[in-house]
Amino acid sequence: MAQDDLFKKLIAHAKEYGFIFQSSEIYDGLSAVYDYGQMGVELKNNIKKFWWEAMVKMNENIVGIDSAIFMHPEVWNASGHTSAFNDPLIDNKDSKKRYRADDLIEEHIQKYQAKIDKEVAKARKKFGDDFNKDQFLETNPNVLRNKAKINEIQDRLNGALESDNLDEIKQIIIDCGIACPVSGSKNWTDVRQFNLMFDTQLGSVAEGSSKIYLRPETAQGIFVNYLNVQKTGRMKIPFGIAQIGKAFRNEIVARQFIFRMREFEQMEMQFFVKPGTEMEWFEHWKDLRIKWHQAMGLPTEKYRFHKHEKLAHYANAAYDIEFEFPFGFKELEGIHSRTNFDLSQHQEFSGKKIQYFDHESGESYVPYVVETSIGLDRTFLTILSAGLKEEEVKKENGKSDTRTVLQIPPALAPIKLAVLPLVKKDGLPEKAREIINELKFDFTCQYDEKDSIGRRYRRQDAIGTPYCITIDHTTLEDNTVTIRDRDTMQQERVDINSLAQILDDKVSMKKLLKKIF
Ligand code: GAP
Repeated sequence: MAQDDLFKKLIAHAKEYGFIFQSSEIYDGLSAVYDYGQMGVELKNNIKKFWWEAMVKMNENIVGIDSAIFMHPEVWNASGHTSAFNDPLIDNKDSKKRYRADDLIEEHIQKYQAKIDKEVAKARKKFGDDFNKDQFLETNPNVLRNKAKINEIQDRLNGALESDNLDEIKQIIIDCGIACPVSGSKNWTDVRQFNLMFDTQLGSVAEGSSKIYLRPETAQGIFVNYLNVQKTGRMKIPFGIAQIGKAFRNEIVARQFIFRMREFEQMEMQFFVKPGTEMEWFEHWKDLRIKWHQAMGLPTEKYRFHKHEKLAHYANAAYDIEFEFPFGFKELEGIHSRTNFDLSQHQEFSGKKIQYFDHESGESYVPYVVETSIGLDRTFLTILSAGLKEEEVKKENGKSDTRTVLQIPPALAPIKLAVLPLVKKDGLPEKAREIINELKFDFTCQYDEKDSIGRRYRRQDAIGTPYCITIDHTTLEDNTVTIRDRDTMQQERVDINSLAQILDDKVSMKKLLKKIF
């Protein structure tokens, strides 16, 4: 399936099977806000559980918190969000469409990259097995010309963003001849900074009320609770605080489904370390986080690290884990060494001493922080986009058919077991209920008696259920059922008493965690 088609199909599939709905759909929706449906919430909860257990349960020195969305407004002055959490925006005067100016330039750069990729594909075809990609990239004149162009534009953009030079950003758009994708015109406004935080009023009347923000990241809730947790939990450095929660950003261009939303969820962990040891911990977390992703079993080649060449002034190392979504490789998680910037800022702005006393060395210091920050919704999207498949299957009559299957990692699947009586009579439904009543304490089960067995299998394939069992007349005689595997479609006759063990072997969270720890 072409990637564009896959993405459209994925969005339609997510709605049709109760994973994701547009928010307020009956009122024509609210842009870039989505609701998770009956299947979506199960998958989302399972991802959260996998992350939480990998962080809090598997690491003795990490604890979790759940801080409030609203925080004292001074928090955002200290963190730098009120002054610097901006995106440069630009409007096209003809289409009246608004864009992120840096995105327009990045997309323009990607056109040069696409030209390079095309050259590589052409040469690979021409030279076959003798093709040496690295050598080709270093020597081919067309590639070198396009590379030079990319570097030139990227350097200009980085310089302009760093020095907050909005006129220069506009000039790059003009010099590159970038046109509005909607109107095709180059009739642009000036570039302006746009703060991404949503604000609201605290207090029942506008007068005397104060402006507060909906948090744009969960991390600050961790920083301001550093002392509380360290003291009440008697935590010794190095230790971490983990949190899962909503974050809000007024994205200028929110698109690509749940990839960029205005209300989304983050899973963040701040790891507090002794100054000077942060690089060691940074490497440790880089390694552990990629292992977490790979434990889910999505194709390894869909992940890559992206090193930040241009670091924020407070960071001394930063990598993103990128995933190949249907619209290309994009950021999924950030792993950042943030020095002692945030805690020092809160120490200064709050006037409270935020330090750690090291009993062994007798010294006090503001801890350094290594942060891992992953988008829950983006993780959800990785699973849907890698898992959604259309397969040709042979029917019993020799004809072929297509089945749509969602190959969700079994431990994360919304429904673990579908229990299907072959017919709606002869005591088969009662036997099916009996099995569910036994297994439902450990596994999410679904009962389905409607339609032919083949159609019921298809429905379960479409929501990613790893196992279906069928109750037939033989079941009543010898206490066995057929169990069907979602991925291989193989069926096997097994004793009802062995079901719990079979399921546990395949779908337990422990299985995923054991791949990491
Ligand atoms: N505390 C660091 C921080 O918030 P970030 O790179 O801005 O860093 C972390 O965000 C992660 O949150 C991203 O890697 C991404 O997965 C997710 N994220 C950020 N903005 C998002 C949005 N508008 N919609 C969905 N996920 C988003």
